[in-house]
Amino acid sequence: MLTNPTSKYRPFAPVNLPDRAWVNQTITKSPIWLSTDLRDSNQALIEPMDITRKLRLFNLLIRIGFKEIEVGFPSASQTEFDFIRHLIEENLIPDDVTIQVLTPARSELIHRTFEALHGTKKAIVHLYNATSPVFRRTVFNLDRAGTINLATSAAKLFNELAAQQPETNWQFQYSPETFTATELDFAVDICNAVLDVWQPTEQHKAIINLPATVEVSTPNIFADQVEWMHRNLRRRNSLILCVHTHNDRGCGIAAAELALLAGAERVEGCLFGNGERTGNVDLVTLALNLYTQGIHPGLDFSNINEVARVAAECTQLPIHPRHPYVGDLVFTAFSGSHQDAIRKGFAVQAPDTIWEVPYLPLDPADVGRTYESVVRVNSQSGKGGITFLLERDFGIALPRRLQIEFSRVVQQVMDSSGKELSSQDLWQLFEQEYLYGEAALRYVSHQVYTADDGTQMLSAKLQVDGEVIEICGKGNGPIDAFVNALGIGVEILHYEEHSRNLGSNADAVAYVEMSNDFMSGSLFGVGINSNIVTASILAIISGVNRVWRSVDAEVRIEQLMKLKDYTSVVRG
Ligand code: KIV
Ligand code: ZN
Repeated sequence: MLTNPTSKYRPFAPVNLPDRAWVNQTITKSPIWLSTDLRDSNQALIEPMDITRKLRLFNLLIRIGFKEIEVGFPSASQTEFDFIRHLIEENLIPDDVTIQVLTPARSELIHRTFEALHGTKKAIVHLYNATSPVFRRTVFNLDRAGTINLATSAAKLFNELAAQQPETNWQFQYSPETFTATELDFAVDICNAVLDVWQPTEQHKAIINLPATVEVSTPNIFADQVEWMHRNLRRRNSLILCVHTHNDRGCGIAAAELALLAGAERVEGCLFGNGERTGNVDLVTLALNLYTQGIHPGLDFSNINEVARVAAECTQLPIHPRHPYVGDLVFTAFSGSHQDAIRKGFAVQAPDTIWEVPYLPLDPADVGRTYESVVRVNSQSGKGGITFLLERDFGIALPRRLQIEFSRVVQQVMDSSGKELSSQDLWQLFEQEYLYGEAALRYVSHQVYTADDGTQMLSAKLQVDGEVIEICGKGNGPIDAFVNALGIGVEILHYEEHSRNLGSNADAVAYVEMSNDFMSGSLFGVGINSNIVTASILAIISGVNRVWRSVDAEVRIEQLMKLKDYTSVVRG
């Protein structure tokens, strides 16, 4: 790169429009959409689409709801010509859809274009010629008058050829190609000259399309250019002002949005921003941007994955995982704080109310994405995501301190594998840690009864190192009685339970936080059973096993002996 780029590049001169109005406008309605997927996007593909792929994409565009579709550049190739003939001859164009075709300002190519449209009920014929100084000078060697003459001669031929096919309802469109780099006074002159030839009316409007063929400045300057044209074009009520932004500076969407504020009524672009170089403006993003402002775009992306799949198969171009609204990762949060906020947002978000889930500008369900992919767990995730997935998929609502404890277990696995964990992986880890891991102590059965003096008694059969023993205890409830029966110095610090319904099964899930004489701090045990007392006993046993897994072998043996020795004694 140059140390001094001004020696090679110059800044774009601002437009003199001190009373610009677009800055105070808001977008309140959807523009007219024109999909140029079958033309601008197609001409930019490594391998342009054949008729089958074009037809598949055409049908997709119709399903989405496009009413104006640029179907090709019929004079450019036989495939393009044949595709348009196929649409017309096979009667594949719905009555409420208008096809558009593009032609340069060259007589033989215009003839071929009208020939391709023979027999169609209605069509927009789109004429373009490049108007910027560098094109006039370097490419065409034409002055301003010569460039206007090129456009108006072509416009006259449009009138003649249309008159020869009166069965078709014609609409004409003109694009001063490279508009963004064209002097505004010249751009307006050439558009007005073409309109003088076409003589559009309020009932039969022409379209003036202002292309950012190459994006050369910031979107506010493009908005100024559009507003300037909007104010200075003659016959304003007899034309539809359209923009066609490209994305060379990465601002194609912003430029189109600001252009709508500045007076544009129609937008041309492509699905997912396909098109020449960095692409055309992405109509999916534009449309869904409107939707998230409460404006229905008139395009249906309820099944965005299907739209993405068909578009990617037809164009053979993948969609970036972070592409707005559609990428694989855009409804996913890895970071713990994001997951936590999303989880809390979902918990309070009532159906059919204003959408207020943090970090998600759009309800994924509105575009057919499930919540499944919203929270994913990797090494950046904290307890929030883990808790969310276990609760959503397995009905487990972990107490807060258990969330912290289990997230450490998950973190250890994640640190060693470096991989993302699925909800199923997390559940397996949870089962291994709390429910079915290595266990010196196992539950066999229990009985609860009330003694003659009214105290709660509990006897339990347990398997200790393979040997079945029976212990008995009393207390102020079954949990207390069982802890007393164990007699190994376990103290219950916290107890919580909830029910969970998975399919037709209803279970109780019990959590106990316990401490033990010879361990510092506390840990949790978890039990799940259809019976709440059994679930609680299982939770205590889970905790004891976890204590024993964490202490020295001698301590564990000592505790086991203690348990076995006193089996005939009632404790409590
Ligand atoms: O980008 C462009 O300028 C075009 C024109 C032909 C409208 O695609
Ligand atoms: Zn283009």
